[in-house]
Amino acid sequence: MINHQVAAVSGGTSGIGYATLEALREVDVQVAFSGRRAERVRQIAAEHNRDGCCVEGVVADAVDEDHVHRLFDAASAAFGAQPTAFILCAGRGMPGSLVTSDVSQWEDLLRINVLGAMRQLRTCAGLFTQAHPGTAQIRDIVVIGSTVGRVLSAGNPVYGATKFALHSLVESLRQELCERGVRVSLIEPGFVKTEFQASAGYDMRWFNELEQTQGPFLSARDLAASIRFVLEQPPHVHVDDIRIRPSRQRV
Ligand SMILES: NC(=O)c1ccc[n+]([C@@H]2O[C@H](COP(=O)([O-])OP(=O)(O)OC[C@H]3O[C@@H](n4cnc5c(N)ncnc54)[C@H](OP(=O)(O)O)[C@@H]3O)[C@@H](O)[C@H]2O)c1
Repeated sequence: MINHQVAAVSGGTSGIGYATLEALREVDVQVAFSGRRAERVRQIAAEHNRDGCCVEGVVADAVDEDHVHRLFDAASAAFGAQPTAFILCAGRGMPGSLVTSDVSQWEDLLRINVLGAMRQLRTCAGLFTQAHPGTAQIRDIVVIGSTVGRVLSAGNPVYGATKFALHSLVESLRQELCERGVRVSLIEPGFVKTEFQASAGYDMRWFNELEQTQGPFLSARDLAASIRFVLEQPPHVHVDDIRIRPSRQRV
């Protein structure tokens, strides 16, 4: 059974975040979500709110200082309750090694995948521990890392470094909050077919060819099922991390 009535999804306009929103709606969780694309935010809200207000969209950049506050305030205003689950999906990829990757994109990558994530985690940890000082209501923070944040990859080390950082931050936050009713979990996917590859500038011919030998790749729905599994565990059970790859993916 799901432990939450209201959840917040950072980066819910496509891919894993959007599939998570859908999976949460299937079990009647009300969802506040964010994304930078205003039209996409509006469309998603309209689609899900035909029979009442169940989804609240916030046009926001996840690197902004007030991003998590805006998500939580939007949930409170729309649903009359603060989220007790926060799913951090906003992030981007980048192809290449230290030598071959596009240096002009390094700062943007670090800003969203590391600094933005740190700020969001810190704000959410503060909100979760202030709003419910006791442990009666479990609160969940679920972060999307990557298998390249755990397994060294010569193929994608710059993006991988940002996910190694998340791996460290999530476990340390888990230790810090575990006695205060807050669970912090990491999901580490391999290849998932979303807008991620095109927006990061991966070579789509290479990606499609790779799917012939190592696919079928995961869908965003496969990831959403893992996230929901974490949120459905009874309060005394903590899932540290889930590493999930296409069955034929080698590294
Ligand atoms: N797809 C994969 O193969 C894969 C594998 C391992 C890990 N991951 C991780 O999974 C997470 C989700 O990726 P995905 O595959 O679902 O990609 P996606 O389809 O591109 O979705 C990314 C989401 O993040 C949002 N986003 C990106 N930058 C943002 C920003 N600065 N502020 C606010 N929202 C932002 C996007 O919304 P807007 O564009 O509307 O802002 C979108 O909703 C990422 O952290 C990624 O690193 C993906």
